[in-house]
Amino acid sequence: DWTTSNVVEEQVALIREQVGDKRAICGLSGGVDSAVAAALVQRAIGDRLTCVYVDHGLMRKGETEQVEKDFVAATGVKLVVVDAEERFLTALKGVSDPEQKRKIIGREFIRVFEQAQADIIADEGPAVEFLVQGTLYPDVVESGGGTGTANIKSHHNVGGLPEDLEFQLVEPLRKLFKDEVRMVGQELGLPAEIVQRQPFPGPGLGIRIVGEVTKERLDLLRDADAIAREELTLAGLDAEIWQCPVVLLADVRSVGVQGDGRTYGHPIVLRPVSSEDAMTADWSRLPYEVLAKISTRITNEVKDVNRVVLDVTSKPPGTIEWE
Ligand code: XMP
Repeated sequence: DWTTSNVVEEQVALIREQVGDKRAICGLSGGVDSAVAAALVQRAIGDRLTCVYVDHGLMRKGETEQVEKDFVAATGVKLVVVDAEERFLTALKGVSDPEQKRKIIGREFIRVFEQAQADIIADEGPAVEFLVQGTLYPDVVESGGGTGTANIKSHHNVGGLPEDLEFQLVEPLRKLFKDEVRMVGQELGLPAEIVQRQPFPGPGLGIRIVGEVTKERLDLLRDADAIAREELTLAGLDAEIWQCPVVLLADVRSVGVQGDGRTYGHPIVLRPVSSEDAMTADWSRLPYEVLAKISTRITNEVKDVNRVVLDVTSKPPGTIEWE
């Protein structure tokens, strides 16, 4: 009989059996899968799990705090936060090419995560033998050959696997679909903001700035994105849309007028999409009043933004993200 409490009970027993009296590490990304996997393992082995969260400085407003405070409060998980913002920004300096950005972010992430692992092992000894992964059933099927999908962008998942793996994997979500993972997360008492979170790319806002990634641009985009998310939530549209990337066209300027003054600012793109699995998508027909509210607020409240545009492209031909 499939109930979430049965799944939790069964997985907790299996994890205990697998890990025995050893220790485990889990990378948290802020996403649903790693959070639920970590919460399950925490329930099974408590303090013998150490979670690692790499703050690459490319998260949206409030997301790092959500992991640091709310997730820890809800689960009691032992968490190591690595503040690597400066390192990532330095590595990204002068880089505009999307594939380059993805490679750099992926590379830096693995380096920082491996260093954190090494530090934990130095602290806790050789009993650290396990790495927790939030692999879902569809990931298992996909990597098993099945329906191969063309990988057009070099995807990487924060929390992803370092290449010279010496750990045994703990994958408590291997039999679950996304909606089941959310139910298990809820059963485990995780915050709704984490359990219901829409997809967000591992490279974060780094691939939502068209142009070079800088701290100022990230802050600006964070403000615009927070407004869009707030208004979409207020309008009750979260369940209806798959996700809504908010993109800063940092290399584009256009003329505007505000008060008596001419402005020469950047456009923000709204990219709300509906989708079943992100392989294909359609642009969401959002109510005009909601779009108007978001546009007015962003242009009034976000410095250097004087225009908001709506992306009305389906996927294909456009991808969901702009980079
Ligand atoms: P695209 O832009 O390829 O995106 O249509 C499809 C879905 O994947 C997400 N995405 C990523 N997720 N790491 C991730 O974990 C990545 O590097 C990455 N790039 C894109 C995107 O947000 C959408 O949901």
